[in-house]
Amino acid sequence: MNWFDALRAEDPEIFGAIKNELQRRREGLELIPSENHVSVAVMQAMGSVLNDKYSEGYPGHRYYGGTKYIDDVERTAIERAKELFGVPHANVQGYSGSPANLAVYFAVCNVGDVIMGQNLTDGGHLTHGWKTSITGKIFKSVSYHTKPDGYIDIDEVRKLAEENHPKLIWVGATAYTREFPFEELGDIADSAGAFLAADISHIAGLIVGGVHKSPVNYAHIITSTTHKTLRGPRGALIMVTEKGLKKDPELDSKIDKVVFPGLQGGPHEHTIAGIAVALLEDSKPEFKEYAAQVVKNAKALADELNRRGIKLVTGGTDNHMLLADFSSVSPGFGQFAEEALDRANITVNKNTIPGEPSSPFYPSGIRLGTPSVTTRGMKEGEMKAIGGFIAEAVQEIKGYKLPGKAERPAYIKKFREEILQNEKLEEVKNGVMQLCARFPLYPELSM
Ligand SMILES: Cc1ncc(COP(=O)(O)O)c(C=O)c1O
Repeated sequence: MNWFDALRAEDPEIFGAIKNELQRRREGLELIPSENHVSVAVMQAMGSVLNDKYSEGYPGHRYYGGTKYIDDVERTAIERAKELFGVPHANVQGYSGSPANLAVYFAVCNVGDVIMGQNLTDGGHLTHGWKTSITGKIFKSVSYHTKPDGYIDIDEVRKLAEENHPKLIWVGATAYTREFPFEELGDIADSAGAFLAADISHIAGLIVGGVHKSPVNYAHIITSTTHKTLRGPRGALIMVTEKGLKKDPELDSKIDKVVFPGLQGGPHEHTIAGIAVALLEDSKPEFKEYAAQVVKNAKALADELNRRGIKLVTGGTDNHMLLADFSSVSPGFGQFAEEALDRANITVNKNTIPGEPSSPFYPSGIRLGTPSVTTRGMKEGEMKAIGGFIAEAVQEIKGYKLPGKAERPAYIKKFREEILQNEKLEEVKNGVMQLCARFPLYPELSM
């Protein structure tokens, strides 16, 4: 039986949508840095009978019967996470990165406490205290920034910590292209008596692959999503380091209690099984090669974009990500760039840049990353070609400028009609499709 036969027969509508998405991924370049293509083994673990099981509690201490094999799955995931990151405690039940980060707050803070994190428009994540996130509403959030050169302003972090006495400081971001200063932030947190939580969601795969410094000696707590460079299912890890246990010997059980029963109910054991499979894959020598290639590819893409006159925040990258700054083309140009590239089968996301002159919904940059194209087997030569595609597509739409609010709907509608007719963008799309055909995605899946 073909894996998808039952779905095709039962629900043609959803089958059709999944088939279309598979085709979209096969024929296009996924350059969103927070995405990846998981292995078929990971997909099989997720699409298994484990989905059906309730198992509130933790291995050996459950509120439901029939959890013998579930315990095997969760213990394996925990042990693999501990081994891979070199930590004494790991919780693998977080439903995703945001609830995992929320659990950290409630393990070490009370409502109203001061917390610090990287400002959203300087690359920080919503859950690090941004005003529209619950974390920015129930805690007193003090944001630190990047300097005009795009690097984290360590002096400002130190000054703000001295002035505000935070309980918790976050290091980690969603749009930052340089190595994180874990050691410096660890010293600042220690001087302030604060907990340092490193959110390594984006770079976790690079850390286990040995191409980014680990925060394990500097942070008390480490959180990560499992679906980005770790190449697993959508889920999260919350880990406590030796340093964390030294500061609070009960930190491990506090985290576990906040996750369950504090914030969540039954763990998603099918996802936890997928996480375990991904962590096994991440421990293999091939994954080290993969992680190294992700960074080499990002640097090669940066070189080509620089050569073609596209400005990058910080001028380049140390990791898997690039942030193109189109503010000198026109404020809000990220919207047009994202849509024109999408038209050419290149998926990126619009993003704010440090000192954003427009707004988070109409930002001036785009964020690009190499994890997915590297999973497909692409190398530096292909990055050069991709840099060329991007530059050609952007050149085609440079004349568009975001108008005032009243004129926007009509202007954007016209822009969309025009890019559909644009022959150059069609030509770029054909080039992209030819490149993708050389790197088949999921040849073992037929739908
Ligand atoms: C640094 C960082 N932390 C947390 C998250 C939140 O993860 P999720 O979208 O799974 O809730 C993200 C997602 O983009 C992220 O980049």
